[in-house]
Amino acid sequence: MIEQRQGYSTTARVMHWIIAVLVLLMIPAGITMIQEGISRPLQDTLFLFHKNTGVIVLLLMVARLLYRRAKPPPPLPATVPDWQRRAAGLSHGALYVLLFVMPISGYVRVRAERYPIEGLDALGIGTLLPHSKALAGFAQGLHQAAAFLLIAVLLVHIGAALQHAFIRKDGVFSRMWPPFER
Ligand code: HEM
Repeated sequence: MIEQRQGYSTTARVMHWIIAVLVLLMIPAGITMIQEGISRPLQDTLFLFHKNTGVIVLLLMVARLLYRRAKPPPPLPATVPDWQRRAAGLSHGALYVLLFVMPISGYVRVRAERYPIEGLDALGIGTLLPHSKALAGFAQGLHQAAAFLLIAVLLVHIGAALQHAFIRKDGVFSRMWPPFER
């Protein structure tokens, strides 16, 4: 009998944990950099980090989605009840959508006002977006609303993961941890 894989592949794990660390840095950086009264050098550094890392997150998300399509995740253990499967499906779907909406809206917010994205500028990658304050304002509102949603879904996601790891101990957490398949 062919034994079915229980956990995610090393490639899927590495992409998950790199994106997780970057997003967990992006959120406090994004919130801090728009606070009034922070020093200019700190603000500039946070903007530099936030904009350029955000573009990297978008590229990683594209790679992750393509990989997932080519290699779907292994099935959950049979012990996981139906409602939890549905909740997991919904929250994972929301995370995918939000992790595309966040960098795309951030990009539009910045580029529609012709602000720099230093990494892309250095590579000579311009933008086809029109110069539009209205578009930038719309993208800014979307970025903020999606950030609230993202934080809420992440709290549920992390809470569920910790519950599987330390309370249920049902093998769900070890599908994604450690970052390299044993
Ligand atoms: C995974 C990707 C991203 C995450 C998780 C993220 C997260 C955030 C968060 C939490 C805020 C604070 C929102 C608020 O309280 O108003 C923020 C603000 C901001 N982000 Fe992002 N962001 C991402 C990608 C990007 C990208 C790619 C860019 C630009 C290239 C960008 C540009 C900005 C700008 C300019 C602001 C300030 C918005 C304002 O003008 O009020 N973000 N981001």
